Amino acid sequence: MKMVFFSAKPYDRQFFEKANEQYGFELEFLETHLGPHIVNAVDDGTPVVCTFVNDKLTEEVIAILAAKGVKVLALRCAGFNNVNLDAARKHGIRVCRVPAYSPEAVAEHAVAMLLTLNRKTHKAYNRVREQNFALNGLLGFNLFGRTVGVLGTGKIGKAFCLIMKGFGCRVIAFDPFPDASLTESGVEYLQFDEVLAASDIISLHCPLTPESKYLINRESLRLMKKGVTIINTSRGGLLHTADVIESLKTGQIAYLGIDVYEQEEKLFFKDLSASIIEDDTIQRLMSFPNVLVTGHQAFFTEEALQQIAECTLRSVDQLCNNKPVNPEVVLV
Ligand code: NAI
Repeated sequence: MKMVFFSAKPYDRQFFEKANEQYGFELEFLETHLGPHIVNAVDDGTPVVCTFVNDKLTEEVIAILAAKGVKVLALRCAGFNNVNLDAARKHGIRVCRVPAYSPEAVAEHAVAMLLTLNRKTHKAYNRVREQNFALNGLLGFNLFGRTVGVLGTGKIGKAFCLIMKGFGCRVIAFDPFPDASLTESGVEYLQFDEVLAASDIISLHCPLTPESKYLINRESLRLMKKGVTIINTSRGGLLHTADVIESLKTGQIAYLGIDVYEQEEKLFFKDLSASIIEDDTIQRLMSFPNVLVTGHQAFFTEEALQQIAECTLRSVDQLCNNKPVNPEVVLV
């Protein structure tokens, strides 16, 4: 059975080929994003197409895929905002995704960003390579004893809370659906405003929804302690970037770590080192010495890629062979 992959990187090939040893599907990897310009690269009679976050599964693309005989669209990611599910339903295409893959990977990356910022290891790394062993400008602060506010205590937020408890932090949290096991572990649930006001460090782990869009904005920033550290590994749209830049300029935010960015689609997952970047906002953010930007790599661990490949191929096998499927993975 043939599966065509779009937006495939060398690491996708590595992990999917390994996971495929137990299925023996015919895998074809294409580097390009899926869109109307390239959809004809899918041969007639191909039953499965596998896509990632920036592939465009519009009504037009889905109709062409259906006409070519595609039966299953396998998203090798959790999010599906790039897929017209109604069109898939209309054309009888089943759609599956990977709802969860190593929440610890993302939580640990949030901690890595925090530790980089509070101990300035990104600066130390460069200095020492230049044989500059001076400590001026590298003064950090302890995490032990600090108050860490966690917004969203689902799978990733929970893993993050437990790591921060291990550091000896006071961990406070806001989530409309508190997790009783975290309360037992000593995490205190407070109201949203209370978490903002009491935290030295705030880490975002809630999804981007119409309600959470620009959760961190001029008003909410005003409620925070001066000199707060903010870490966002969740979705770029949770931050109002222009307001955040203002707060960096005034010192209201002392440190910012972001693995996600509202306009990341045009930038992330690409090597643009020889290109002129037209996005002035990301350039401004990267110009601050106290801002750390990574390119949506929080999920990027061996364990997570293995789980993504195994879950995707298992779902494809189940959907194509009419076997029972975990309802959490099926979108259509
Ligand atoms: P989850 O669904 O297990 O947990 C989300 C939690 O947020 C839930 O407990 C929910 O009640 C809570 N929540 C919803 N709205 C909220 C609000 N306005 N304020 C506070 N809490 C709110 O999701 P999971 O797996 O923990 O993922 C969290 C987010 O992490 C995802 O939505 C995704 O945006 C992001 N993510 C980032 C990755 C990366 O590589 N940077 C990889 C995977 C996920």
